[in-house]
Amino acid sequence: MSIWTQHQKIEKNATLLLVLSFFVVTIGGVVEIAPLFYLQNTIEKVQGMRPYTPLELAGRNIYIREGCYLCHSQMIRPMRDEIERYGHFSLAAESMYDHPFQWGSKRTGPDLARVGGKYSNEWHVQHMISPRSVVPESVMPPYAFMADRDLDFSDMGDHLTANVAVGVPYTDEMIENFRVDVITQANPDADEADVDGLIARYSESAVLGDFDGNPDRITEMDAIIAYMQMLGTLVDFSTFDATASENLR
Ligand code: HEC
Repeated sequence: MSIWTQHQKIEKNATLLLVLSFFVVTIGGVVEIAPLFYLQNTIEKVQGMRPYTPLELAGRNIYIREGCYLCHSQMIRPMRDEIERYGHFSLAAESMYDHPFQWGSKRTGPDLARVGGKYSNEWHVQHMISPRSVVPESVMPPYAFMADRDLDFSDMGDHLTANVAVGVPYTDEMIENFRVDVITQANPDADEADVDGLIARYSESAVLGDFDGNPDRITEMDAIIAYMQMLGTLVDFSTFDATASENLR
């Protein structure tokens, strides 16, 4: 009996096919998952990672809502051409507060994992309003409407709480102060005590500014640019040693 006739037996018997498929998938699963329990760690120990500020998280929600991930990845691979173009390869630790992660799988536009600080806020505003006015060959669609839409941040407290449920260490104080933190981060003339509060909660790496260039209101443009400007800026690579024993796989 040839192997093909033998295989026909499996194909014609649904129960046998199901049992054998289950068996094969189980072996595959064990091979993939079991080693994770024996690694010293799966996330590097780094300095500087903090949860998103409520304004950045609102920007991240807009990023997801608009499907920016369909054209942009946030994952720099450890290959020379990528590192020369985008900077240090992405670390697992850099996505540890991302639910869901935004690694993406397609690059119609460039990787955004380290776009923070690369351009001025003004450049971002102009680019979002009309990408081709700054990059003539761009195929990115315009998002000018974001400059006209007030940011609805009334539910950001709930978003922080939801992130706590999946392990992001937002404190009760952060959740209580989400409103003032959003307003403070987007307002260059904010009250000094509020600025101190924001920095005490989220550290010096929280970038403040009037991101959209309109100081009178907080728009979706403020949020998306606050998010763009912090991407990849948190980890202090001067203190990160990829070859340290605790970081070796
Ligand atoms: C249809 C695909 C597409 C979509 C959707 C898209 N982009 Fe882009 N994006 C591009 C392309 C192509 C470029 C490169 C040309 C340019 O700079 O405009 C780009 C460039 C950028 C850059 C500059 C990156 C750099 O390093 O120069 C930023 C920032 C950016 N996009 C943000 C966004 C955001 C935020 C969204 C969602 C609101 C978005 N993009 C949606 C295609 C897209």
